[in-house]
Amino acid sequence: MVRVGLIGAGRMGRTHYARLRGMEDVQIVGVADPQAERARELADPVGATAYGDYERLLARDDLDAVYVTTPVQRHADPAIAAARRGVALFLEKPVAWTLAEAGAIADAVDKAGVINAVGYQWRTRPAVERMRELLAEKPIALLRTHWYWTIPLVPDIRNKSTGGGQIFDQATHPMDLMRLFAGEVRTVQAAYTQNARKGEFDNWDGYSVTLTFESGAVGSVATTYALFQGVAEPPTLDVVAKELLLRLTPRQLEIRTPEGVEILQDAGEDVDSPFIQAVAQSDQSLIKASVRSSHNSLALTLAANHAAECGETVDFAEFVRRGQEGNEKVRPAVGRGSR
Ligand SMILES: NC(=O)c1ccc[n+]([C@@H]2O[C@H](COP(=O)([O-])OP(=O)(O)OC[C@H]3O[C@@H](n4cnc5c(N)ncnc54)[C@H](O)[C@@H]3O)[C@@H](O)[C@H]2O)c1
Repeated sequence: MVRVGLIGAGRMGRTHYARLRGMEDVQIVGVADPQAERARELADPVGATAYGDYERLLARDDLDAVYVTTPVQRHADPAIAAARRGVALFLEKPVAWTLAEAGAIADAVDKAGVINAVGYQWRTRPAVERMRELLAEKPIALLRTHWYWTIPLVPDIRNKSTGGGQIFDQATHPMDLMRLFAGEVRTVQAAYTQNARKGEFDNWDGYSVTLTFESGAVGSVATTYALFQGVAEPPTLDVVAKELLLRLTPRQLEIRTPEGVEILQDAGEDVDSPFIQAVAQSDQSLIKASVRSSHNSLALTLAANHAAECGETVDFAEFVRRGQEGNEKVRPAVGRGSR
């Protein structure tokens, strides 16, 4: 039996809770949220204890794992406390608000040697495993993603000062996969605009990012908050190698070769079962996205924000180094933006 505590009983806390409740080998023993009624709403039906303060949850002596699903600005303290307490950590994406915080979480997790996972659930899709097989040994020419969306519905994410922008919050999923397929990023250029919905909310509504990778691949990211719900254009990631186009959308993988088109329906993502299994078996190798491997996916989105703000080509390795030193410049850009 894996005994789990939840820190944060909002949208994602409830999502993981719903899946964990259905698992025979899991017992949810406590739920912490400063909004007491939210904690009680999840705790009561499963006989768990509700807490207003996560430190009281972590003080229990029967915890095996915690889920930290607090808003991103509040990831660092509970995540570090959980690692120091020696319990396994599932942390929602992105790892943290700043690179200094993300580095501190990764250091705490590594030092404690606890099982750890980050909510980059696209990595758990069978289609992604298939893409890795198809791309093995094949140099990638181009990665291209687009994510067309509307004004974020969640108040905390709507504005760039609290949500970090669409690249930071949403496109971080396909950009994390770009790193998985093409390796580490070398340079980042970006232009953002606040144009089509100027005055409606304080965030960029158009984002264009150009990447080069150490492997020689190039990448392109185009996202928008200017559209509407139900636009019927799914987030898409294309990966192009010699005579091979792989197109990943939320439910399927399209494989185009000179021989024709093959379409694989994807079984979908599952971050919770592998995490619980990894905790039960003390086996970190079952985890697709660790805190350490996800650190630079956060860095990539912050580098894009920074590139858009300063209008210069950002050297990614240098950006990561400066971010770990706590350089304020790598926070999500809240200043002038591209315009
Ligand atoms: N994997 C995904 O696809 C995905 C999707 C949406 C959100 N997220 C991520 O999940 C995280 C949470 O997002 P959300 O939409 O669930 O937010 P939310 O606002 O719905 O829920 C957050 C909850 O955390 C609680 N909270 C705040 N401080 C706390 C503390 N110190 N201790 C305990 N609880 C605290 C809040 O009261 C709230 O109930 C964010 O990192 C977000 O980026 C991931």
